[in-house]
Amino acid sequence: MNLTVNKSSGLNGEIVIPSDKSISHRSAMFLALTGGKAEINNFSTGADCISTLNIIKALGCEAEFISDKHLVVDSKNAFKKDLYRLDCGNSGTSMRLFSGILASRPETEAELYGDESLSKRPMRRIINPLELMGAKIKHKDFKSPLTIFGKELFPIDYKTPIASAQVKSCILLAGLNTYGETRVTEPYVSRDHTERMLKYLGADINVKGNTVSIKKSQPEPKNISVCGDISSAAFFMTAAAITPNSDVILRNVGLNQTRTGIIDILNQMGAEIEILDEKTECNEEVGDIRIRTSELKAVTIEGEIIPRLIDELPVIAVAATQASGTTVIKDAGDLRNKESDRIKCLVTELRKLGANIEETQDGFIIEGKSRLNGGCEVECYHDHRLAMSFYTAGLVCEKPVLINEFQWVDISFPEFLPLIESLS
Ligand code: S3P
Repeated sequence: MNLTVNKSSGLNGEIVIPSDKSISHRSAMFLALTGGKAEINNFSTGADCISTLNIIKALGCEAEFISDKHLVVDSKNAFKKDLYRLDCGNSGTSMRLFSGILASRPETEAELYGDESLSKRPMRRIINPLELMGAKIKHKDFKSPLTIFGKELFPIDYKTPIASAQVKSCILLAGLNTYGETRVTEPYVSRDHTERMLKYLGADINVKGNTVSIKKSQPEPKNISVCGDISSAAFFMTAAAITPNSDVILRNVGLNQTRTGIIDILNQMGAEIEILDEKTECNEEVGDIRIRTSELKAVTIEGEIIPRLIDELPVIAVAATQASGTTVIKDAGDLRNKESDRIKCLVTELRKLGANIEETQDGFIIEGKSRLNGGCEVECYHDHRLAMSFYTAGLVCEKPVLINEFQWVDISFPEFLPLIESLS
């Protein structure tokens, strides 16, 4: 589906932000490990989370929607077969986390495969630590498809070269079914939903600074409520901040500190942003965000904050085109390993719109404030977050912007278009 975005005269009103992708994945995966029955409230209907749901079904779980986004998972018959073929679609989270789960299950052989984009993404980052634990994995030059020959593993004390929640979670999930204590230390703390949810389900997991340790333990079935995705909210926060005459309220947004880098950066840029109401649900902080049209100024983004906003960098770059001064984004080289090379692709397409943005090896340099002309076509490179970033930019372009293959938003956020249109 190709979509035209027109200049907006203002975004106003309130919306409920749909469910968090990372937390939805984990809720289905971890309930699959409990051997019991529990409910998930507000499970994401994005294609990535549906891939995870289909995988737990292929592994023997019953998983039925009892209403719109309310799911019951029963895992009493899970992991009874010894051979599985599991389709991860476009989802790196499914492939990397299930690899950890399956590598530590003796007598289980599983092939994990995905679409063209996923087949190009690096898997060495999980294969190396899993092999150190004694895992047996067949791969295609460290890319998928992966065949995992499950076996009894050894605990390791592993220092990850990059801060990655997928790598950390993969090792912890292998450690959950391994005798002894498995430890993972990251250079900076990445999103910690795995740690929080496993703790909530009663697993033997502990966090000290940048190190997480886990011992073999059995998570218990418990109902899980999934909050709204701050990575989805980020498009609305940015859109409201850069579009004149805007004032929006975003309800039920996850505010876990390991994800709120976008709020910290918008604050530093001078955005009019407030947290209205904060509570804790299922070990995760949740709240409402109000954001209005703002005069933005440039910032430097680097170091420890990067994993706390890694998925928001494309839309932050859009915000930076509307901020006065030079925004520099560094230490974000892993953006090249996401659903697309987000550094190269973003720079190519934002330039077409009229942005003054330069590619560096590990980020961007953006001069603002630019008058974006638009009046052209952009490509989203099969990447949901690029598609939504270009839509956000289109709202402040002088002339309409045509986004090709906009349907890729369905990977994480099928509700994006009706929600943004409801604020216009
Ligand atoms: C995710 C972790 C991040 C993020 C991805 C989801 C997760 O990837 O980019 O969208 O759910 O654990 P990395 O761990 O590779 O940084």
